Amino acid sequence: MIARDHVQNAKIGFIGAGNLAQAVIRAFIDSKIISRENITITNRNEKKLERVSQEFQVRAAKTNEELIERSDIVFIAVKPQDFYQCIEPIAQAFNEDHVVASLAAGISLQSIQKLIPSAPKVLRVMPTTAAKIKKSVVAFAYTPAVQPHLSWVTELLSTMGLAVPVEDGEMMRSILVAASSGIGFVYELMMYWNEWLEEHGIDAQTARKVTVQTFEAAAAMAGHERDTSISELQRKVVSPKGVTAAGLDSMRELEIERALRISFEKAALRDQELGQMIVPRN
Ligand SMILES: NC(=O)c1ccc[n+]([C@@H]2O[C@H](COP(=O)([O-])OP(=O)(O)OC[C@H]3O[C@@H](n4cnc5c(N)ncnc54)[C@H](OP(=O)(O)O)[C@@H]3O)[C@@H](O)[C@H]2O)c1
Repeated sequence: MIARDHVQNAKIGFIGAGNLAQAVIRAFIDSKIISRENITITNRNEKKLERVSQEFQVRAAKTNEELIERSDIVFIAVKPQDFYQCIEPIAQAFNEDHVVASLAAGISLQSIQKLIPSAPKVLRVMPTTAAKIKKSVVAFAYTPAVQPHLSWVTELLSTMGLAVPVEDGEMMRSILVAASSGIGFVYELMMYWNEWLEEHGIDAQTARKVTVQTFEAAAAMAGHERDTSISELQRKVVSPKGVTAAGLDSMRELEIERALRISFEKAALRDQELGQMIVPRN
């Protein structure tokens, strides 16, 4: 079966119907490849379950076991601190046909495999809420048993944006910092752009539009001219001794790259610390 047909027919479950699950469900439905009838959700709080299933017109299961029984691929979309408590009582419900896709930050593939030994096909998927506009980077790591299913799994994840296979561990952490935390870091820069414009008399609405347009333009040009390095693209907009050159010289003198490098390293360290804090119950 070709990948698209497989995605079209796959029964998809979500344990946990919170913010991220809703962003992913939105991407799946908007892709027009996946139909609502093939999506089933559960949630701890029943009122939320009812609200989300009505809003997205997807099925609601009464129990997590019922959802697993109905699904080919099960996304686990609970908070990392709820992960073990959620999975331990239902681990036996998974079998070797299921693909288990964990969205939980900080919980390694290895830990998931230990917790669910009956399901060898395990994915760790790290999208962002930008999935709902199909602009997420979707880093994913997988166990060897997923290899034969890679084409449809990638097709499914690509409905959220750019699916990037990585090794679990340092690679996953780095992409998480650059792409997930990265959105927050870019907002930090955008806030400065906005403020600068407003401080110089541009009204708030225009300042916001100019900021967004500038970031979009840089990203779009870098995306469009894929064969040109980013430093070459930068050289093209800098005239020697010109206005941009003066600003860039100052940025380099102030060691902006060093500040960013330290900030990225701090974020990576925090991810590692948080991962160590989530421990299984005895
Ligand atoms: N938000 C992001 O941008 C983002 C990005 C990357 C990864 N993630 C990961 O995505 C996961 C979910 O994050 P979130 O922001 O979507 O959290 P959230 O909004 O709190 O959603 C988690 C949902 O799981 C439900 N839940 C908890 N235990 C359950 C159980 N045993 N059975 C069924 N449902 C259960 C909760 O129900 P209640 O209604 O009772 O609370 C809640 O609705 C986390 O592991 C996080 O690391 C999030």
